[in-house]
Amino acid sequence: MKSFNLPQPVTDTINNFYDDYMKIDQDGNTRDMRLGSGCPRREECFILADLYLQEKPLKSLDFGLGEGTACIALASARKHLGLQGKHITLDPFQFTLAKGIGLNELKKYELTDYVEFLEEKSEEFLYSEFHKNHKYDFVFVDGAHDIGHKVVDAFWIDQILNSGGLIVFHDSLFFSTSVAVRYLVEQKSYIILDVNVDPTWKSWSRALRHTPRLGKDFCFKYVPKMGKAVTALRKP
Ligand SMILES: C[S@@+](CC[C@H](N)C(=O)[O-])C[C@H]1O[C@@H](n2cnc3c(N)ncnc32)[C@H](O)[C@@H]1O
Repeated sequence: MKSFNLPQPVTDTINNFYDDYMKIDQDGNTRDMRLGSGCPRREECFILADLYLQEKPLKSLDFGLGEGTACIALASARKHLGLQGKHITLDPFQFTLAKGIGLNELKKYELTDYVEFLEEKSEEFLYSEFHKNHKYDFVFVDGAHDIGHKVVDAFWIDQILNSGGLIVFHDSLFFSTSVAVRYLVEQKSYIILDVNVDPTWKSWSRALRHTPRLGKDFCFKYVPKMGKAVTALRKP
């Protein structure tokens, strides 16, 4: 595993979030995060925090909040940087699907002061931010995974992202994400960053394994640069 040179408080927050895997929801029930929740993995959170610390984005956004995994990593990086303003996180289903766990976790790690939560859908929020002429420097995408949402989200994020800004996708091996990534790189000239953390043999064997489903072009060009299932693209 690649070693990350992150500030200790950021590393500790991410590790504590993972080590303390029994999460308490808004009704006082516990949920075991080890039972496959689709949230970013520990190493992916290190990649996200690392990118955020390097970029120092004044305006940042992620969706959906879900159990708060990614948001905790991003917000703890923001807290460490001491940036003005708050990171924005969206989730229209925070109180129904995630049962408030994301918000509870932000409170637990004393990150609420650094985050603004909105119970909104990405497709509506992004469109409305475009009309308000609000711009962003960093957007992490982990919301609805169907092709329609993924491509619409990519389209509107492109409209509101500053030049030089980053769009980062989770679940990059989903077909929907591959279409959004290809749209941004092949039609909007985004540059893919190399965030791979695995040995070369491992990332290339992943590329080969997914070729029948995602195609040779995508697998050979994009998969070896992913950090696990994270793809990071820079707007030209
Ligand atoms: C895989 S989970 C996200 C996990 C989360 N990023 C984490 O780190 O714990 C997907 C989330 O997207 C949310 N979601 C679904 N449709 C959405 C939409 N249209 N806009 C924003 N979020 C959405 C869901 O409520 C769910 O919490």
